Amino acid sequence: MAELKRRVAVLISGRGSNLGALIEAARHPDYPAELALVLSNRADAAGLERAGAAGIPTAVVESRPFGKDRAAFEAAMQARLDEAGIGLIALAGFMRVLTEGFVSAWSGRMLNIHPSILPAFPGLDTHARALAAGVRLHGCTVHFVTPGVDEGPVIAQAAVPVLPEDDESALAARVLAQEHRIYPAALAWAASGAARLVDGRVVLNVPMAGGAFANPLPGHSGLPTEMVPSPPVPRAGS
Ligand code: GRF
Repeated sequence: MAELKRRVAVLISGRGSNLGALIEAARHPDYPAELALVLSNRADAAGLERAGAAGIPTAVVESRPFGKDRAAFEAAMQARLDEAGIGLIALAGFMRVLTEGFVSAWSGRMLNIHPSILPAFPGLDTHARALAAGVRLHGCTVHFVTPGVDEGPVIAQAAVPVLPEDDESALAARVLAQEHRIYPAALAWAASGAARLVDGRVVLNVPMAGGAFANPLPGHSGLPTEMVPSPPVPRAGS
């Protein structure tokens, strides 16, 4: 029922492809969140057009004029959030570090998407760093926001293989496709109460995947099959 939907603000700074995925998901009548505001700290963020085209109210609070006064910038944002009756924030490519005061005020009610499997590769340039590190799996994380940058308790993660021919943009595209899958799901869980922050950890009331994902695939190793251990069989209920 519409009156039970959590009112969500999506905070952006740029192109807004994750915003687009959230908009698509929120069109479903049973989606437990309503995108009630898209707020950008840059007037030139392409995501604002995406929001406007979907009929979602938008606001711009330029961060630049506030300089280093982050608290004043956040007070201006908070005023817009209050006006719109927002109960949950989804950061989606929002490129400002938030103060501890703002983060604490929204504890358990603010989500972020990050393009790596945290705690690996917090910060910027995650795909280049994953390639440089030579990892075989990379991916993305949705987490509740805590004062440490990219440190908050994890709600959902997706893993993708890193392939030998990958460059940064190929890997980024593979990860982004997964961002667009897990963020709408994680936001729905947070909005419905299926994902809750309790004593600094996420309590989930959703089905969990069993089994494992490996890259390279053991079954394609070229070794005689008797030399390759079978993957574990998921336990019922796990
Ligand atoms: C995404 O990769 C997200 O994980 C990161 O910033 C990027 C935003 O992309 N936090 P978009 O604006 O959603 O397209």
